[in-house]
Amino acid sequence: MKTGKSYSHADVPSQVGRTFLVTGANTGIGFETAATLAARGARVLLGCRSNARGQAACERIQMRTPEADLRLVPLDLGDLASVREAANMVLQEPRLDCLINNAGVVETTRTFTKDGFEAHFGVNHLGHFALVGHLLSKLEAYEGGRVVTVASTIHKRSFIHWRDLQAKRLYSSLARYGMSKLANLLFTFELERRLRASDARSISLACHPGGVWTELGRNLPKIVQRVLRPIASPVINSLEDGALPTLRAATDEDAKGGDYFGPDGLLEIAGAPILRKTSRRARSEVDAERLWEISMQLTGMQPFI
Ligand SMILES: NC(=O)c1ccc[n+]([C@@H]2O[C@H](COP(=O)([O-])OP(=O)(O)OC[C@H]3O[C@@H](n4cnc5c(N)ncnc54)[C@H](OP(=O)(O)O)[C@@H]3O)[C@@H](O)[C@H]2O)c1
Repeated sequence: MKTGKSYSHADVPSQVGRTFLVTGANTGIGFETAATLAARGARVLLGCRSNARGQAACERIQMRTPEADLRLVPLDLGDLASVREAANMVLQEPRLDCLINNAGVVETTRTFTKDGFEAHFGVNHLGHFALVGHLLSKLEAYEGGRVVTVASTIHKRSFIHWRDLQAKRLYSSLARYGMSKLANLLFTFELERRLRASDARSISLACHPGGVWTELGRNLPKIVQRVLRPIASPVINSLEDGALPTLRAATDEDAKGGDYFGPDGLLEIAGAPILRKTSRRARSEVDAERLWEISMQLTGMQPFI
């Protein structure tokens, strides 16, 4: 495995013949990930909740890579019916090699999904949980299937609010975002354990981009955005570098199930992707099992592994 400092976009090997589904691919880290995969010859399915934004993203990728093989898949992770419809479209594809659970929201006020879930928990975790559930059999059909989930270092300061999962009593945007990112990791590692226990071929792994200036903070007051941007930009990852942990998790031939990639710099804010440590809480098997059972009940999924 290469060291972090030496890993760049040029290290992403050819992906000709492989198909990736990237959620939230119309902007930010998802867009950069999709664009690089397409440039390496992959067929890329862009899971986007806005057709207009998704279409514009396809056009921008085609400007970089005219021969890019793309398909827009309408997907609203805050609507389990939409997740099912998107999965049905993907199931019609000749193959699926990798699902990248990238999409994410930060809501500054208490917001709920169409199914009534608190938005961070519902979109960032439950929507992806259901999507994986619908698509796992497709990933299993080919050697080397991967589920890559994009988390964040904020998970280290976060808890699962077991008694108030839907934030009915207390609400803090940061705490709820952090909880959803911890849930992403508990899910990643529980899925990996279940895959190994059932002799499956696919692997489940995670990554985080460090700090990257994207549209994730779009709901913050404009004045906060204007003040923060020039302060943060010199020390955080560029958009291109922010996509590298995802690209490495999705394509590095030496990557293993349960791996977690993040930037090699101080406090994991910037740099090239290397293997990083999660918090112990994120590796709790008891919490992961509990979250899995709750997620099954809330999404109404049939057992898929
Ligand atoms: N930026 C950072 O510093 C940072 C740090 C740590 C982790 N991350 C993680 O990186 C991932 C990508 O975030 P980003 O920074 O690239 O943010 P971004 O620029 O805001 O992109 C987020 C993407 O998710 C999509 N999305 C949001 N809600 C959705 C829904 N209900 N259904 C389908 N797609 C939805 C957005 O679509 P629309 O454009 O239509 O809203 C957008 O394409 C997230 O998981 C985030 O938690 C980011």
